[in-house]
Amino acid sequence: MSIIFIVLFLSCISSTSSTENYEVTLLKIKKQLGDPGVLSSWVEGFDFCHASDPQHVGISCYPTTGRVTFFGLYDLDISAPFPDAICDLTELEDLVLYNITGLYGPIPSCITKLFDLYEIEIIGTSLFGSVPSFMNQTNLKSILLRGNHLSGTIPPSLSTLPMLTVLDLSSNYLNGTIPSSLSTLQNLSNLDLSSNYLTGTIPSELVHGWANSLNLSNNRLTGELPRCGWDVDFWLIDKIFQKTSTTQNLSHNKIHGKIPDSFASSHFYDLDLSFNKLCGEIPQGGNLWEFNAAAFANNTCLCGYPLPPCSPSATAPAPAPILEASDLDSSP
Ligand SMILES: *[C@@H]1O[C@H](CO)[C@@H](O)[C@H](O)[C@H]1NC(C)=O
Ligand SMILES: *[C@@H]1O[C@H](CO)[C@@H](O)[C@H](O)[C@H]1NC(C)=O
Ligand SMILES: *[C@@H]1O[C@H](CO)[C@@H](O)[C@H](O)[C@H]1NC(C)=O
Ligand SMILES: *[C@@H]1O[C@H](CO)[C@@H](O)[C@H](O)[C@H]1NC(C)=O
Ligand SMILES: *[C@@H]1O[C@H](CO)[C@@H](O)[C@H](O)[C@H]1NC(C)=O
Ligand SMILES: *[C@@H]1O[C@H](CO)[C@@H](O)[C@H](O)[C@H]1NC(C)=O
Ligand SMILES: *[C@@H]1O[C@H](CO)[C@@H](O)[C@H](O)[C@H]1NC(C)=O
Repeated sequence: MSIIFIVLFLSCISSTSSTENYEVTLLKIKKQLGDPGVLSSWVEGFDFCHASDPQHVGISCYPTTGRVTFFGLYDLDISAPFPDAICDLTELEDLVLYNITGLYGPIPSCITKLFDLYEIEIIGTSLFGSVPSFMNQTNLKSILLRGNHLSGTIPPSLSTLPMLTVLDLSSNYLNGTIPSSLSTLQNLSNLDLSSNYLTGTIPSELVHGWANSLNLSNNRLTGELPRCGWDVDFWLIDKIFQKTSTTQNLSHNKIHGKIPDSFASSHFYDLDLSFNKLCGEIPQGGNLWEFNAAAFANNTCLCGYPLPPCSPSATAPAPAPILEASDLDSSP
């Protein structure tokens, strides 16, 4: 009886002291953010588990222990480096920093100590530096780092996160190539690397077996479209390599070659191959007929429906295959 009592008593003490640690940590975060007015209710002894405010702050605690599992800040008008005291919320599962343009500096490497993290969402800040390696954070399901000022290359270590389902690194300043090892992530269903400075070719392993949303538009990717792997129904091949019309320099780093015949046995939910250096006849079949000319526009010399029909002069920077020429001869 007394042993049980002591055990309960001890666990009570340890839970209280870890709760106090969380209070200390949250007050430290407040200070690191420069004591913004919206956090004025954060004072010693405040009920931090119920301190959320739908406009700017989200905090959730695990009910029985009072551990902070969710921490979010939104739409804050502050100027501060990343508050690294966040790394002391050691049992954090979900971190959201959204639309805080005054948040600058690198994402500190201590973030990789948060082993329970399953979602990290840092969107619309001025944070710069590299994408953290997230090594050993094997619970991670969603990494959304859209619209920051991150640079450097995509860490291949992201390919070691078995649960990773959503990876959105769009609208940053990332360069280098797309690691082909990302194709080993069998749970990855939503990959958005659009609007960066990525170079190299699309790894064919990546599109092979792709089942969902892939957005690689507005980069500097080159090479040909991978030939294999386009034969699964209902893919969302989303605006691949689309260039916005504000980009006038199309002189380098474009996808070239023909559209693979396998496209004609595919079913695309969405497709945009515009603003590349593709050439030759658009294969007919599958549901390619559903896409209008804009999906194929502004390439080097694509032809055939929905673009104007191929003619010997339009298709012929390279010698045209004999079959194609005789097909054209037999048409009225
Ligand atoms: C972003 O936050 C600022 C306050 O810092 C706010 O004025 C602005 O409306 C927010 N933008 C969006 C898109 O929510
Ligand atoms: C990741 O785990 C390995 C062992 O599995 C260890 O050697 C390495 O130091 C860990 N890396 C980080 C960043 O924690
Ligand atoms: C995909 O995620 C499930 C849990 O959602 C996990 O059990 C499984 O191991 C993951 N698959 C791979 C290939 O890692
Ligand atoms: C990426 O850009 C940085 C400069 O921001 C440069 O030093 C580096 O060499 C580039 N890396 C690649 C792979 O292009
Ligand atoms: C794909 O990325 C481009 C550029 O970042 C963006 O404009 C477009 O909305 C994205 N498509 C979807 C469906 O999210
Ligand atoms: C176009 O881009 C290429 C590299 O992609 C560069 O060498 C060239 O100077 C650019 N031309 C103009 C007019 O900006
Ligand atoms: C793209 O193609 C359309 C139709 O051929 C043309 O009107 C437009 O000027 C092109 N845009 C650019 C930026 O070249």
